[in-house]
Amino acid sequence: MSDQQAQNGNLELLEHIIELTSADLDVGEVSRRVAALVTAATHSDVCFVHLLDEELRRLILAGATPPFDEQVGIVQLALGEGIAGWVAKFARPAVVPDKWKDRRYRYIPELRGEDFTSMVSVPMLARGRVVGVLNVHSRAARNYGDAELALLTQVANLMARAIENARLYGRLAEREEMLERFATRTVEAQELERRRLAGEIHDGISQRLVSLWYHLLAAEDAVGDPEVVRQELGKAKELSTAALDEARAAIMGLRPFVLDDLGLGPGLESLGRSSSGVEVEVEVEPVDLPAHVEVALYRIAQEALQNVVKHAGASTVLIRLAPSEEGVRLVVTDDGQGFDEDSIAGAEDRHSYGLVGIRERAELIGASLTITSRPGTGTSVEVTLPGPVRP
Ligand SMILES: Nc1ncnc2c1ncn2[C@@H]1O[C@H](COP(=O)(O)OP(=O)(O)OP(=O)(O)O)[C@@H](O)[C@H]1O
Ligand SMILES: [Mg+2]
Repeated sequence: MSDQQAQNGNLELLEHIIELTSADLDVGEVSRRVAALVTAATHSDVCFVHLLDEELRRLILAGATPPFDEQVGIVQLALGEGIAGWVAKFARPAVVPDKWKDRRYRYIPELRGEDFTSMVSVPMLARGRVVGVLNVHSRAARNYGDAELALLTQVANLMARAIENARLYGRLAEREEMLERFATRTVEAQELERRRLAGEIHDGISQRLVSLWYHLLAAEDAVGDPEVVRQELGKAKELSTAALDEARAAIMGLRPFVLDDLGLGPGLESLGRSSSGVEVEVEVEPVDLPAHVEVALYRIAQEALQNVVKHAGASTVLIRLAPSEEGVRLVVTDDGQGFDEDSIAGAEDRHSYGLVGIRERAELIGASLTITSRPGTGTSVEVTLPGPVRP
């Protein structure tokens, strides 16, 4: 084959890969097809696409030429394990003329290493990060050259970028869906709040103002009888105090005023003091957070505490707010009966919004949430807001 022919072939392959990676296919399907194309283009016998699971720190086979496609999802390598693991760990390619002489090589029976001799393994890099590893193997011993290495590198990086984009897109779509759900629930909550407020104004405050007016009227009618006037004015005074208290309570329910006046730490302390039926310990260290984050953390603590009072049968609950290594952490831990997390998986269907709301608030402020609970051992709700902590 002339150089020109080879170059044309490579261009065609890259075009094919671009088409594949921009089509609406899942990662497994793209990996399978890329594996077939790459095998043919490099005159290899088999190609493997391993993707890195960052959390597990393992490479997982995502695509391969038959018959190894049956091992997709099954064959795994730890980061640093085998030649592919080494390539993923150090983000560097490996050209291996005889893998039996390479100390990095690790035999995986399912991939029939005994059938192949030479190989090239290249990292799939997107924005400097390893997304996976692309391997080609040949049965006969051969020296893969620079041209093949360059081509494989290009293919690997095209795939890496496509996979990274698909992941980012997935995350964005998830976030958008969550925001939509949050908006709907906010509108519902607003409606509920309006009804509550209307009820409180109608049944409480207005009723008292009406009575107050009657007592003032009676006092006016009894101008000649100071004793009656005194009695009526006394009642009027009582009613105006009660109406004022009710107005205050109605407003308090709308916004955690305590935050504006005192800040999050003292706000949590006052939350603790206002709970009944359980002993609340509050430990707060000074943290400096934006106002909307303070409100979110306050509301999370409020719901977690309400759950303790409603469901836990606990004797004590600890609310702790402190800077931690990862950022700022809020923990609400009780020593109550706990619950089986799986059994409340369908809580949304049962119209329980507390934990769902906690999760949404945490996500909206970019915090991570861990709820740990087991029947009999109590519950812990932990929210960690990443980032530098300003004391
Ligand atoms: N601290 C806790 N201790 C024991 N069980 C809990 C605790 N927190 C939550 N649960 C369990 O999880 C369920 C779901 O809680 P969630 O706050 O979502 O709903 P809810 O409190 O029942 O209703 P809502 O919060 O919507 O008024 C509760 O019904 C309860 O069974
Ligand atoms: Mg609740």
